[in-house]
Parts: sequence; C-alpha cells; structure tokens
Amino acid sequence: MPPSFLFATCRFGSEPALKREVAMRHGGLLTPAFMRPQLITWKVQGELPADFRFGGLFAQVSGRSLGMAETVAEVVALAAGTGAAHLHIFPREVPEEGVPEETWARVDAAAAEIQALLPLNDQKPLRPADYVLDVIIGAEGEPMLVGLHQYQPGEFKTPGGLSRASLPPEAPSRAWLKMEQSLSWLGVEKELKGLVVLELGSAPGGASHSLLSHGATVYGVDTVAMDERVLAHPQFHHLRVSAGDLQPDMLPDQVDVLVSDINLEPRIICQYVEKFATRLPPLGMILTLKINSAKVEAEMPAIIQRVRQWAPGPVYVRQLSSNRREVTLVSWGDR
Ligand SMILES: C[S@@+](CC[C@H](N)C(=O)[O-])C[C@H]1O[C@@H](n2cnc3c(N)ncnc32)[C@H](O)[C@@H]1O
Repeated sequence: MPPSFLFATCRFGSEPALKREVAMRHGGLLTPAFMRPQLITWKVQGELPADFRFGGLFAQVSGRSLGMAETVAEVVALAAGTGAAHLHIFPREVPEEGVPEETWARVDAAAAEIQALLPLNDQKPLRPADYVLDVIIGAEGEPMLVGLHQYQPGEFKTPGGLSRASLPPEAPSRAWLKMEQSLSWLGVEKELKGLVVLELGSAPGGASHSLLSHGATVYGVDTVAMDERVLAHPQFHHLRVSAGDLQPDMLPDQVDVLVSDINLEPRIICQYVEKFATRLPPLGMILTLKINSAKVEAEMPAIIQRVRQWAPGPVYVRQLSSNRREVTLVSWGDR
C-alpha cells in the first residue's frame, strides 16, 4: 500500500498554530510532509482509524490528499473512482485583505476547464457524508493539489471555506465580513428576519449593519460610540454600558441570538455569555474569541467543552478567512 497523506488549509499566518494543533491532537499518527503558505500536508503513519476526525480550530478544509496535478487531465485521473459528488476549486493563498481579482480570474479559468471534463453537479446542496473533490490552485506554474473530503455538519459549505463577499463601502467595520461569513456557515441568513439579537461589543457596528440588513432587531452593548448610520436605524438600540454592568431590565423580553465580539480573553467572554445564555436562553450564538497568545490557544479545548454545557445546539469553532488572530464559535438550536 502506498503511504497516504492528509492536507489542510488555513488562514494566512496560522500555519504554525495549525501544525501545533495537529501535533497535539494526532501526534504519532500524522507527521508533517510539506508546507506552503496556507496549505500543509501530513504523512499518515500506518492506517487512519475508521472514526478519524481531523477536527481542531485552525484547519479550514481538511481531507485526504490524492496528489499533485500539473494538468486538468491529471486532475480527472486522480478523481476517478473517488465517488466525489461535488467539486470545490479555490486559491491556496488568501491574503489578509482578500483574494485579488486576477487570482479569482485564474481560479475561475481553471475551474471552467476542470468542470468541462469533470461535470459534477455543484448546484445540489451539500449533505452529510457527501464526498467533495478539492482542487487547490497555487501560484502561477505550481501544480494543483487534489484532495477529497467528506462533508460533515459544522464544516464550511463554500469552496475552501472562502467567501467572495467584499466589504461594502457603507459597512462601519470589517466585522461585517465576519458576521456575513458566520451566518452563511450556519446557513441562517433567511431565518434572521424578525429575530432579536443581543450583541456584546457592538461598536462601531459592522456586525450590527449585517444583522440589520437581514431584518433582525439589534441591541448593541458597548461603552464606545456606534457609527451614526447604525445608530439611526429604527431597529437598532444602543445600550451604552459595559457587558458586566448590563442588567436584565435593560433587555427586551426575548433575545433570540447572542453575539459577542468583545476584545477580551475568551475565558472572560464565556463567563459573560454564560450568564446571559443560561438566563435567556437563546436560539443561536455567534462568538468571536481572540487567540492572541499560546496560553489562550492551550486553554481553548477546556473553554469549548464548558460552552457545550449551556450552548443552544451543537458547538462548532473555526477560524474563518475573515478572522484575524481569533476564531469564531457558533451554535444554533431549535425551538
Ligand atoms: C472588535 S470591537 C467590536 C467590533 C464590532 N462588533 C463591529 O461590528 O464593529 C470590540 C469592542 O468591544 C468593546 N468592549 C470591550 N470590553 C467591553 C465590555 N466589557 N463590554 C462591552 N463592550 C466591550 C470595545 O469597546 C470594542 O468596541
């Protein structure tokens, strides 16, 4: 049997964190093979257990590496017999300020060529256990990495976990992108109309702007000023206090979604959120958790375990392409 390899993609700058995480979760089973910016492969030592889950916070897409392809014909040959029902083609490098137009043009040209020879129906929504063929397009002249992953709930549905949305000029902050990406990951954009959201750490208002545009009513908690355009929206209410001083009588009778983007340690955020989540309880939760030290990184598994005890539904945590030194935790239940 030839050795098998796994691959994972990550956000720009998170390669060391991804390597550390894999060493901690799967050390002994996986040893690093090659590393390019935002893409790492590992050699599997022996056999992968049947219940193997890559897991972790920093891998955006992970799966089995089928090999490198120089041409479209080689991509098709590698895809043969995999049972892939979906095709995801995406760029390897996603700079912090977003994928440049010329890179998307190159990716789209490659996608058109591959789709002509490998006509997988990509209009169907992903269902759990569906196989996805990943084709990762590197720099000009670099071979493509062809991989295969099995979609599971909680994973990103877009190719590479990327979004093509760009920050609209009227959005008060980059948090707009994070919120749009979180809503699309949860698949709840259309459910927000009429829901009440409590956002801790809402200023200047990018996330609120996104939530309001989907028809939600937003109570924004922040001690600093909100952007004038958000403040003027009839469905926005500013509670100008610290989250720690927020009293139950300041809140509406029902809060459906709890959001936090406070720039404090995750341990403290979770203490604030737990207080509200156990009292309300909400239908959904979207939390940005800052990971700005190795200490915080190491604390994350215990924090996530704790959140699972009071979250409204399954808890998923990932670094979104729009996140900086942070990850996003989402949970959505049913009522
Ligand atoms: C990353 S910014 C939030 C960005 C915002 N969500 C947006 O969409 O534009 C973090 C915010 O957390 C606020 N913050 C920090 N500590 C806080 C606390 N204890 N209570 C409420 N807000 C807090 C800061 O004032 C800051 O505006």
